[in-house]
Amino acid sequence: MTALLRAVESPLVPVGFNVKPHEASERLQVVTLSSDVIHGFADAMSEWPVQALEYKPFLRFAAADKLNALTEMTLGRCLNDIMQNRDSAAFLLQYEGEPDIESGELRTEFDIKLSTAISHLVGLPNHDSMYGKYYARFTVLNEDNSDSYLRQAHRRMELHTDGTYVNERTDFVIMQKLAEANMQGGESLLLHIDDWAELDKFYNHPLAKKDMVWGAPKSKNVDSKITHPVFFEEDKNGKPNMSFIDQFVEPQNMAEGMYLYQMGESIEADPNYITVPLPVGSMLVVQNLCWLHGRDKFVAHPQLSRELLRQRGHFTR
Ligand SMILES: [Fe+2]
Repeated sequence: MTALLRAVESPLVPVGFNVKPHEASERLQVVTLSSDVIHGFADAMSEWPVQALEYKPFLRFAAADKLNALTEMTLGRCLNDIMQNRDSAAFLLQYEGEPDIESGELRTEFDIKLSTAISHLVGLPNHDSMYGKYYARFTVLNEDNSDSYLRQAHRRMELHTDGTYVNERTDFVIMQKLAEANMQGGESLLLHIDDWAELDKFYNHPLAKKDMVWGAPKSKNVDSKITHPVFFEEDKNGKPNMSFIDQFVEPQNMAEGMYLYQMGESIEADPNYITVPLPVGSMLVVQNLCWLHGRDKFVAHPQLSRELLRQRGHFTR
């Protein structure tokens, strides 16, 4: 027992990857997998197409285990340490080199396998009603006529959390870039709520714990509305967890409307957000209850295209 405890408490020495803070913020950790690990993972996963992972949920955990084993089980521990620590609670995962897979759909499949392994090391993805799978793939183009700002290129997508209108816990969000062409701008925006200068003003407000109504536009395929407060719980250290998005909250009176309006204005005006470029194949993984995320606008281009994958899930520990 003593030996086991010592092993659990020993400092983490990464095998097959390295970790360092992002240049934009000490909070955001950059995790870089080595070329050896990427080649090993590509080999280990070659027998399972993404369809197999879609059909057999346990294979997703097997994929996570294969990746973890290539790092002598240090990657899973490291990622969970990052995600469970509110002061960091976010990482950008990228890799060195390239798998021996030609570009195109097979290469995209490799990236999906990788983000599947990562999501199952930190928790369990929720079913994505918009796409009908445990993940969603979607494309941002120059022209768009959808019913939310998700795919609209020429405007900033305001800072928000995901999962405001679903009943499942949404502890984490993975945003992965699968492909990109003719893009300029459109970086990911992140704001840790502990860095939001006016957090206390809104957290200590009489409406902070008041139930609000949350709905979703038709494309999300979620018909029912739910209610919860913006500041719906405290974490294990007594700090606020937040669930907020400007587009999908439906204030029922003037007081709620003005509270939410002023909150949105305050968040958008806060200078403490960070800008994070996301190279193709890399992914941002954020704890969804203490980090707000958004997207900067793009420069218009008739052939601009960006394909993204997202997974939203809950912690299982
Ligand atoms: Fe989002």
